[in-house]
Amino acid sequence: MLDLDRLLSRYNPATGELAGAKPVERRLADLRGCFADMAAYEAALAAGNPLLYRVASVEPARGEGDLHYGVGCIMPGKIGNEYFMTKGHLHAWRPAAEFYFGLTGEGVMLLEDEATGESRMAPLRPHHAVYVPGHTAHRTMNAGAVPLTYLGVYPARAGHDYGAIAQRNFRCVVVGRAGQPVMIERNQL
Ligand code: F6R
Ligand code: MN
Repeated sequence: MLDLDRLLSRYNPATGELAGAKPVERRLADLRGCFADMAAYEAALAAGNPLLYRVASVEPARGEGDLHYGVGCIMPGKIGNEYFMTKGHLHAWRPAAEFYFGLTGEGVMLLEDEATGESRMAPLRPHHAVYVPGHTAHRTMNAGAVPLTYLGVYPARAGHDYGAIAQRNFRCVVVGRAGQPVMIERNQL
C-alpha cells in the first residue's frame, strides 16, 4: 500500500518549512574558509553569528532509481562584497546530476567542473531551472534583498562531499559590483 505521508510534502513559503523534513541550519561560523575576504569574515563574526541558510531535505526512499529533494532558503546579506552563500559541495557519487528550480528571490549558482576547473555562474530565480551536471561542484548565493528559496532534486545515492571544497575552495568568487553579481578568479580579489 502506498504510504502518502511519505510520498507527499508541502513547502510553506511563509515559514520556509517543508512538511516532514527537519531543516539543517548553517550560520556564519559554519562557513569558515568559504569567504575570500577573511578580514570581512572575522569582523562579521565578531559582531554576531547570523543565520546564512537553512535546508530541509526529504529522503522518501534509498533504492536505485529513487530521488531525494530539498528546499534551501538563503538569507539576504553580504560579507564584504561576497553574498551569503552555501558551503558548496560535489556529490559523493560524482556522476550524480542535480536539478535546481528557483522559488523566490534572486540568486546565482557557481558551477565548477571538477576535472577542468572551468567555472560558470548561472542565475537562479523564480521559475528558472538550473541543471547541475555530474562531476560539478556547486554553491548557491543570494544576490538579492529578500530570502532566496529553491528546490533541489538529486539521485538518492548522490551523497555530499564537502571535503574537497573545504580543502581547496572554489576557484572563483562571486562579488556584488554596482548591484550585480560578477564572477572573478579568487586570486584576483
Ligand atoms: C543537494 C544540494 C542542495 C544543497 C543546499 C545547501 O545535493 O545541492 O540541497 O544541499 O543548497 O548547500 P550545501 O549542501 O552545500 O550546504
Ligand atoms: Mn548537490
